[in-house]
Amino acid sequence: MKPLPPGSVIGILGGGQLGRMLAMAAAELGFDVHIYTPEADSPASRVAARTTVAPFDDAEALARFASGVDVVTTEFENVPADTTRVLVAAGAIVHPNPEALAIAQDRVAEKNFFNECGIATAPFAAVDSRADLDAALKQIGAPAILKTRRLGYDGKGQARIATLAEADAAYAALGGQPAILEGFCAFEREVSIVAARTIHNGFAPYDLVENVHANGILARTLAPARVDARVRQQAAGLAYIVGDALDYAGVFAVEFFLMADGSLIANEMAPRVHNSGHWTQDACAASQFEQHIRAIADWPLASPARLCDAEMINLIGAEANEWAKYAAEPNACVHLYGKRDALPGRKMGHVTRLKR
Ligand SMILES: Nc1ncnc2c1ncn2[C@@H]1O[C@H](COP(=O)(O)OP(=O)(O)O)[C@@H](O)[C@H]1O
Ligand SMILES: [Mg+2]
Repeated sequence: MKPLPPGSVIGILGGGQLGRMLAMAAAELGFDVHIYTPEADSPASRVAARTTVAPFDDAEALARFASGVDVVTTEFENVPADTTRVLVAAGAIVHPNPEALAIAQDRVAEKNFFNECGIATAPFAAVDSRADLDAALKQIGAPAILKTRRLGYDGKGQARIATLAEADAAYAALGGQPAILEGFCAFEREVSIVAARTIHNGFAPYDLVENVHANGILARTLAPARVDARVRQQAAGLAYIVGDALDYAGVFAVEFFLMADGSLIANEMAPRVHNSGHWTQDACAASQFEQHIRAIADWPLASPARLCDAEMINLIGAEANEWAKYAAEPNACVHLYGKRDALPGRKMGHVTRLKR
């Protein structure tokens, strides 16, 4: 594939804030964006040239979409992998590839993948029945976390098991969905790395960053993470292995637990731009959104160098009402997603404070 020329059409599956920021970055490079989403009046569609509103299993709508775009990408990881397979069968170029998406959508497949790459994870076991949970707890012990295998995000679909007596309640909380039991990692910090890869093995990792969660939702990201150079380099090396093993094109993220002994335990990967990479919009020459568009359009990758330190603060629910306070700070960059209702727990925007 030759670099996709400006004027080409980039198709994005999903209409949320990540699609919105991808669409704006694509427009900066001269592309038109076509959003495909089941949601009417989505944040992304309001900044895109075209939108198809249809379910992800609408074969006719998908065929029309495939014939009208030059490359397809995804903005959220739960677009059914089969949707992307249908698009590939219809002749579309899809990045990331459906296999990468499928692995990231299933927590058991994802952890097996990490282990096959030689990357450490928490001990885990698949849980498909109440009896499986007992067997898994016997093997892994408590404390542990029971998570749905699929469709979890922002801490949803998880139940903690502090002692064995809590097993029944945790199992009931997940409603018998296919699950995974993970040993609890008493981490020192949570860190993540966002990196871009091209199909020609171009690789550009941003700095490792440090994440603080509240109620299972990312609250703040500090760039760079306060860790030593050895940890930073190790994380970049592991991200390289992940991208290479998935034959990946685009931006992806890997979340890690940093343990007291300095080791990194992989938690999950996201086959897309990531909330912990939003700081790159204001503190790097090219944001993760531009970098993703470059990668899927087969352009050269930009430098991922950090131009200054940064802190990203998520505006969750009613916190978005404080936009004017942040806008009055000279070195705060305000980003709002245009969502109509500030529901509790909903990501409404973010602020990046530039430091130095
Ligand atoms: N095995 C674990 N040990 C300790 N904490 C965990 C573990 N798994 C998840 N957590 C905590 O829960 C948060 C959300 O879990 P995660 O697996 O990242 O799911 P999500 O898809 O909702 O982001 C993590 O960022 C971490 O704080
Ligand atoms: Mg996570």
